[in-house]
Amino acid sequence: MAVLELNDLAKRYNRKVWGVRKMDLEVEDREFIVFLGPSGCGKTTCMRMIAGLEETTRGSINLEGRDITDLPPRDRNISMVFQNYAIWPHMTVFDNIAFSLKLKKMPKEDIRKTVEEVAGMVKIEQLLTRFPGQMSGGQQQRVALARALAVKPKLFLMDEPLSNLDAKLRVVMRTELKAIHQKTGATSIFVTHDQSEAMSMADRIVIMKDGEIIQVGTPEDVYFRSADMFVAGFIGTPPTNFFPVSIRKENDRGYLEHSDFNCPLGSEELGLVSKGGREELVLGIRPEDFKLAAPRKGILNAEVLVVEPQGSHQILAVELAGNIVKIIVSPDQKLAPGDPVSFDFDYKHLHFFDKDSEKRIS
Ligand SMILES: Nc1ncnc2c1ncn2[C@@H]1O[C@H](COP(=O)(O)OP(=O)(O)OP(=O)(O)O)[C@@H](O)[C@H]1O
Ligand SMILES: [Mg+2]
Repeated sequence: MAVLELNDLAKRYNRKVWGVRKMDLEVEDREFIVFLGPSGCGKTTCMRMIAGLEETTRGSINLEGRDITDLPPRDRNISMVFQNYAIWPHMTVFDNIAFSLKLKKMPKEDIRKTVEEVAGMVKIEQLLTRFPGQMSGGQQQRVALARALAVKPKLFLMDEPLSNLDAKLRVVMRTELKAIHQKTGATSIFVTHDQSEAMSMADRIVIMKDGEIIQVGTPEDVYFRSADMFVAGFIGTPPTNFFPVSIRKENDRGYLEHSDFNCPLGSEELGLVSKGGREELVLGIRPEDFKLAAPRKGILNAEVLVVEPQGSHQILAVELAGNIVKIIVSPDQKLAPGDPVSFDFDYKHLHFFDKDSEKRIS
C-alpha cells in the first residue's frame, strides 16, 4: 500500500516562480526514495511541502490514507533533516536528541532509552554530554540524524543531509544511512544532486528537472532504460555519449550513419527506430559499451586526446566531429595522448532517442 501520495502537487512562489510545477508520486511502505536533480529543480520545495513548512499552490498530499495537505507540521508524523542540519548550539547532544521527546511528554526513562538507542545507531553514544561546538561537522550531522530518528516518524525526510561532509565521510555515511534504514524500516525520502549517491542508496529514484518528474524507477531502470536524453546524460560517470545519426536502409538491412562511423541494426531495431518515417535520431552509447578493436572501416576510429586513470579502469577521451567522447577501458591498456584507437560497440546496449522530443524510442 502506498504510504505517501502526492497528487498533482505544485508550488509557485510569489505568483511568479514555479518551485514545483507538477508532481504525482506514490511511495510504498518502508521504501527508500531518492529525489535526484540539478540545483533549482524543486527538490527542497517538494520536501518542505510534504513536511508542511511550505503551503501548496495546487494538489494534495496523503499520508497513510489521510489528507495532510493543510495540517500543521507537528501533526504530520514526519521528521526532516535539512540541508544545513540546524542543531541547537546551546544544548548538549543528549538534549538536542531528547528535545522533541520532552515536548511530547514522554516519560524520562523512555527518553533516556530512546536517546541511547538512536545515538547508538548513528555511533555517537560517547558524545551525549558534548555541545555541538565541540564536535566535527560529521559528528554534528549524526546528531541531526539521531534527533530526527528519535521521534520514530512515519516518514523520514532528508534534504542533502551529507552535503557538509568531506567526500570520504559522505561515502561512509551513505552506507550507514542505508543500514539504519534497513534496521528501522522507516519510509524515507532522501534528496541529493549526486547521481552516484542516488544510485547506491535508492530503492527507487525520482529524477526531477524544472519542477517536474522526468522518470521514476529503480537504479537499474534509470541507468539501462533512461526515459530521455536528460536522464541518460545525468546518470553515470561519465554519462552517456550522444551521436546524431541518420537512418539508412539498404535492401532489408539498416544502418545508423554518423560522419565517422556506421552502426548496423537488426531488423527489429530498424523497424523500431524508423517507425513513422523517422530518418534521423540520436544514438546513445554508455562509456563502458565500447570495445577496443582492430581498426576497420565503419567503426569508430579516433585519436586519444586525454587518458584519465581511475585505478580499477581508465577513462579515455577522444574527439569525434568536434565532440568529446568518453570511453571506459581496462587499466592494462597502455595508451597515451596521440595514440590511434578504434572502437566497436556492444550492439545489445545501444540507446535510441528522438532528436526533437529527446525521449527514448522504445
Ligand atoms: N522562498 C522562495 N521564494 C522564491 N523562489 C524560491 C523560494 N525557494 C525556492 N525558490 C525557487 O524555486 C525553485 C526550486 O528551488 P528548490 O530550493 O526547491 O531547488 P532544489 O532542487 O532544492 O535546489 P538545490 O539542489 O540547489 O538545493 C528555484 O528556482 C528557486 O529559485
Ligand atoms: Mg535544495
